[in-house]
Amino acid sequence: MEHFRPDVLISEEDINLRIDDLARAINTEFAGEEIVVICILKGAFMFCSDLIKKLELPVRLDFMQVSSYGEGTVSSGNVKLEMDVSENLKDQNILIVEDIVDTGLTINTLVEMLKVRNPKKIKLASLLFKPSRNKFPVNIDYLGFEIEDKFVIGYGLDYAGRYRELPYIGVLNAGN
Ligand code: IMP
Repeated sequence: MEHFRPDVLISEEDINLRIDDLARAINTEFAGEEIVVICILKGAFMFCSDLIKKLELPVRLDFMQVSSYGEGTVSSGNVKLEMDVSENLKDQNILIVEDIVDTGLTINTLVEMLKVRNPKKIKLASLLFKPSRNKFPVNIDYLGFEIEDKFVIGYGLDYAGRYRELPYIGVLNAGN
């Protein structure tokens, strides 16, 4: 199989520096409180792992998995819950950690699923946001980067299940 080399859109170093800023803001907002970090699988695993290393708070980590894309680059429009959290979320401070907000459908569906469990607070950290594609309004409390309407891969994000291992955010290009 050929080795694919995407163009770099956001470097490993820039991601790291931005995560420092986000962690600082989260540490300030939740100072003295415990939080339940919900990592949205699979795409957010790398971002979440780097982010929580920089938190200076009592953290409980949990995971949820939803799917909406299948094998393509266009959302199917249906969000399916594949795996649920194992923690009791009642009266907890929740920080959802997501890879990217595109149309906003996934995150809106997730927030609705979590609200009914009566948490104290729900906050959202997303590494990426594509404003030009947004259809369902989303309030991103901690945003890494706004990006143009390009399909991105790497740093957890995939195309048809591949490229999650890249340490940077790259763009699929015609030449590769
Ligand atoms: P939304 O429901 O349209 O906001 O899509 C959010 C989900 O789609 C994300 O959690 C990603 O899994 C996936 N996604 C959206 N845009 C991209 C992209 O450019 N690259 C890889 N995955 C993406």
